[in-house]
Amino acid sequence: MMAEQALGIKNHISTTIETRFPIVEVSQLAEQESWRKEVNRPIYHIHKWWATRLGSVFRAITLAALDRSGCDIWNQFYDQHDFNGKVVLDPFMGSGTTLGEAVKLGAKAIGCDINPVSTFLVGQAFTQVSEADLRAAFGVLNQNVAPQIRHYYQTRDPQTGETIPVLYFFWVKTVITPEGETIPLLSRFVFAQDAYPKKKPKAQIICPSCWNISEDRFDATSLVCTHCAYTFNPQVGPAAGQYVTDRHGIRHRIKDLLPAQGPPPEHRLYAMLALRPSGGKVYLPVGDADRALYAEAQARLRDETLPLPCMSVRSGHNTNQARGYNYIHWQDFFNARQLLCLGLLLQAILEIDDLAVQEQILCLFSSTLEFNNLFCSYKGEGTGAVRHMFSNHILKPERAPLENSVWGTAKSSGTFSTLFESRLLRAKRYLKEPFELEFERDLFGTRTGTRKTVASKPINVRQVTTWEQLLSLDNGLLILNGDSSRLPLPAASVDAVVTDPPYFDFVHYSELSDFFFAWLSPVLKARYPWFARPDSSHVGEVQHKDPHTFAAQLTSVFRECFRVLKDDGVLVFSFHHSRVEGWAAIYSAITRAGFRLVAAHPVHAELRASSPKSAAKDPISLDALLVCKKYSPDVAAPEEAYDVITMSLELASRLQSAGMRISMTDYFVIVASQMLISLSTSQHDFAAVCALIGQTYESAQKAFMAMETSSH
Ligand SMILES: C[S@@+](CC[C@H](N)C(=O)[O-])C[C@H]1O[C@@H](n2cnc3c(N)ncnc32)[C@H](O)[C@@H]1O
Repeated sequence: MMAEQALGIKNHISTTIETRFPIVEVSQLAEQESWRKEVNRPIYHIHKWWATRLGSVFRAITLAALDRSGCDIWNQFYDQHDFNGKVVLDPFMGSGTTLGEAVKLGAKAIGCDINPVSTFLVGQAFTQVSEADLRAAFGVLNQNVAPQIRHYYQTRDPQTGETIPVLYFFWVKTVITPEGETIPLLSRFVFAQDAYPKKKPKAQIICPSCWNISEDRFDATSLVCTHCAYTFNPQVGPAAGQYVTDRHGIRHRIKDLLPAQGPPPEHRLYAMLALRPSGGKVYLPVGDADRALYAEAQARLRDETLPLPCMSVRSGHNTNQARGYNYIHWQDFFNARQLLCLGLLLQAILEIDDLAVQEQILCLFSSTLEFNNLFCSYKGEGTGAVRHMFSNHILKPERAPLENSVWGTAKSSGTFSTLFESRLLRAKRYLKEPFELEFERDLFGTRTGTRKTVASKPINVRQVTTWEQLLSLDNGLLILNGDSSRLPLPAASVDAVVTDPPYFDFVHYSELSDFFFAWLSPVLKARYPWFARPDSSHVGEVQHKDPHTFAAQLTSVFRECFRVLKDDGVLVFSFHHSRVEGWAAIYSAITRAGFRLVAAHPVHAELRASSPKSAAKDPISLDALLVCKKYSPDVAAPEEAYDVITMSLELASRLQSAGMRISMTDYFVIVASQMLISLSTSQHDFAAVCALIGQTYESAQKAFMAMETSSH
């Protein structure tokens, strides 16, 4: 039974998403997209943003939110659409997923984000600049500044005496005991191994006595150094958890050894991975010439005047750990060589005359920062080597940072030259040929592969700055910066709001985006007023660990959505949470803003890494797509009419029958979202919503377990 029918809502021309959604087909496609989302939807990945949603899911949502045929939108998913004249709004734009999918369907799109970095990157994502112009600008940088940068990323091959490029420098933080002993914060002496060590057990091990490199198994427990004959256990380094052990066997708390003030801990350079002309990679120990090269970079940095960040790191939920290690300025996140090379590169980019091209390359530069700082680490061989700084949604000081080479080589990843091809040019090509992934199947319907199907006209938008301009153009795109609780839009002007709001205890976007803002603001503040702030935060940002405050913040944005939405339009957003408070906050925002929930469709979602810790063992892989309409008492049905448990079981079993694993937390997402449908036609207070969801889940859980048992 569909939600609308269940609620007894009749005589109402509904959008398709209010009654049906192809949860299985969309989930399967979403999962496929998520494996390589930067390749499958490159426009949303030209720059780091947090919690980017999957394009295929948002195409399906937008299509179903605009379509009123009531037919299964899956049958039209790969058709070319033209919702000319329809307007779609995303008040929490992030990386612009809704905008891209809406314009691909021929609708006009409006996106707003409170964060300057988001507004900048979305603007760049939708700007058409020819590949020839970008290549020409890149060519000039390659000629003028790349040789200066590459100079600092090379070493001498001990085998041939030739100078060869260095891909990565391996560093380790050190602390000094009260007795004056310097201890490297290594927990193991194995510093490089394969991502699948059981298959490829060969590993690189650094000797704690002579700092030379030996090769042995990743799990070797005793090693005699081939260079100095020192015998040690490669698995046991001096650092373990919060402690280090000195040479006398005395344990010290690492925190106690960190200076209360001053710069972050010192680092020791201990190994390199270099690239031979044959294409082979070689691990090398660090020699005097390598240390001298670093000292040369330090000296040049002191002499140059470069456009480096000078902003300090605010105290906050995501930043306090880094501040505890004396990372007080955003400049501290880089070593001297990185600052020099990034500064030289930025200086050269700012000399590009064509501002459209310059900003594209500036966006690429900012993207490169994520992989070129002291919070990056080595993932190992057989995988993308660099673990970028935001792999935990907190800024966790890295004990053994990996220094990537800023310009890079053909064998690098996360460098300026490789990201130029893999992120920027790929995104520009997607604008010309926006494709969807489509499964190939044999005669029996079994999946045999995936192909790319172009199902939209090229994304050829004109970016405008006002509602009036948007109306006057067929291909307008309005990208705004500001608090979405006050939008510069007339009432009842939008056909659908499609969004993905922040979560109350999740990412603190602006604390993290300050990392990029610190570099971009000095350069862009004269062009864009929203970059002329002290940092990327804003009082209106929806973000709070208290669910009540969070709910109140979200209510103000949803109220504004209510104002700008047409009476027969829908507000659709994705959400999941493993705590009842998360759902009660959403209930409160929906109902206080004047909406009611008419449907909730569970679909595959990407794991949001820092969903509450309690969920870590039983991760959530579903998002509920919550479909809201403006509340009107004549269409509201009594809540008893909606059978939450039956509906939840039906949805779970549909997904399970298609081969998806539904964890207990996933099931909780289904039940809680269905529960909100039932509750949102009447007013309940926060505590009551929490209690009602909790009670229903208890019964629903038993029913789910019974269903599981009977199906085995
Ligand atoms: C979950 S993210 C959206 C991610 C997006 N769906 C994507 O695929 O990239 C939420 C966004 O809301 C923005 N935000 C928070 N409060 C806001 C407000 N009051 N007005 C506008 N944007 C806000 C944050 O800066 C963040 O980019």
